Amino acid sequence: MENQLYELTVYVNDKAVRGKVRAEKTLLDFLREHNFTEVKKGCDNGDCGACTVIMDGLAALSCSTTALQAEGRRVYTVKSLGSWEKLHPLQEAFVKHEAVQCGFCSPGFLMTAKALLDNNPMPSRNEIRDAISGNLCRCTGYVKIVDAIEDAASAIEEVSREA
Ligand code: FES
Ligand code: FES
Repeated sequence: MENQLYELTVYVNDKAVRGKVRAEKTLLDFLREHNFTEVKKGCDNGDCGACTVIMDGLAALSCSTTALQAEGRRVYTVKSLGSWEKLHPLQEAFVKHEAVQCGFCSPGFLMTAKALLDNNPMPSRNEIRDAISGNLCRCTGYVKIVDAIEDAASAIEEVSREA
């Protein structure tokens, strides 16, 4: 039975992605094998946050989630946020505050931050620090990342107030 394949459909960035997987296949590997290589494979062990996606509204480590656990669920990667032509306010703020250096950790940070702001639109700096505590960055020292998320929260708030 250990070689058994299971059919599944995961809704990634609002598109149905179908596949056949073994029970132990991670969501991270499933996504990368279906060309969602924007989801980064860092430690592959739940320690670095590089693989963070949003699943059913909450940040999730795709290396610590099996593909089967995502069956029928909505998963969003960093490519769902914005485009080159129109960046998401979080992406704009990360650029503005130089919170991106080598960029390897950025997809994970951005999705963690998106899940935070979706659930808590005006977080305190401590709440931001708590939310990103599972994401590691070797380059920025974190202050710029916290600044960027705080700034993006204000920008999103301003736009929704004007709307
Ligand atoms: S690759 Fe998933 S937490 Fe590091
Ligand atoms: S920008 Fe290099 S690891 Fe974060």
